[in-house]
Amino acid sequence: MDALAQIDAFEAAALAAIAACGDDAALEQVRIEYLGARSGQLKELQAILGKVPKEEKPAVGKRFNEVKTAVTAALDAAKGKAGGSTPVVAAGPGVDYTLPGVRPALGKRHPLMQTIAEFKDIMGRFGFTACDGPEIEDERHNFEALNIPEVHPARDPLDNFYLATARHGSGAARLMRSQTSTVQIRVMESSRPPIRVVSVGRVYRPDEIDATHHCMFHQMEGLMVGTDVTMAQLKTTLRLFAQAYLGADVTVRFRPSFFPFTEPSVEVDMSMDAAGTRWLEIGGAGMVDPNVLRAVGYDPDEFTGFAFGLGVERFAMRRYGVPDIRLFTENDVRFLRQF
Ligand code: PHE
Repeated sequence: MDALAQIDAFEAAALAAIAACGDDAALEQVRIEYLGARSGQLKELQAILGKVPKEEKPAVGKRFNEVKTAVTAALDAAKGKAGGSTPVVAAGPGVDYTLPGVRPALGKRHPLMQTIAEFKDIMGRFGFTACDGPEIEDERHNFEALNIPEVHPARDPLDNFYLATARHGSGAARLMRSQTSTVQIRVMESSRPPIRVVSVGRVYRPDEIDATHHCMFHQMEGLMVGTDVTMAQLKTTLRLFAQAYLGADVTVRFRPSFFPFTEPSVEVDMSMDAAGTRWLEIGGAGMVDPNVLRAVGYDPDEFTGFAFGLGVERFAMRRYGVPDIRLFTENDVRFLRQF
């Protein structure tokens, strides 16, 4: 048999042996038998190379190298596929399989979204259904039906984010809602009492931005309408809500105030210490004004209701000790990772 025939025979035998292997251990045996540096068949083949006539050497040498490469490649490919003990990470110096793994960083819900989910959950237990309204509103829902007339300072263009649509002659004025009280109107327009709903969402005001004010923040609006809804129920609802979210030692107090859409109206504070010496305002509330009930076609002699609007960020800041409202929208992962 000449050298080239021997090389061909070696290749055929080696490839057949590789194909017959079932796992990596068997492949390793084949490697030693055919390619082993000390006593493998390749080594014997190499010895023959030295004896071929000079003029045949280039061709035989070339073929030898081709076969060596092909068999090695076939072996490597088979190793990846065969079942058995191939580690996912290549073994070698510097790889210690006993070390704990590196945990991939997982995303989480934004702290405010967690807060909102909890708000809805608590109010759900009190029998309030969650509902939503649009963030771009018309003047009827943001003002008129809420008893805020055209001349009221709350409608000043400088105090609201009006959209440019009206100015360009394409219909009624629209604005980013400045309060979630808009949803009170939308709910009452489309349903009849008894009503017990909350709506949590974003509101927009061109306020000076500082540690406690932002041009966009979240409110939870609450509305309860029925045949004999009272202010005492309003106060109890708000106290129980604050205690459910912040703890049993928190209480609320009402201060007389004014809103066009409630009468009487109150400002709501929560206690900031056990002695009740420090208070923080958390929102407004009151009994739904008869004019509002009329605006949605309810008879104020038949129904009464209460409404409240609470600042969501205020509660989250207190619960988590967040000193600056701007942290919620800066999206610094070092802040967000903590929740
Ligand atoms: N909408 C009021 C505000 O944003 C809060 C409020 C809601 C007051 C409901 C009374 C009743 O300031």
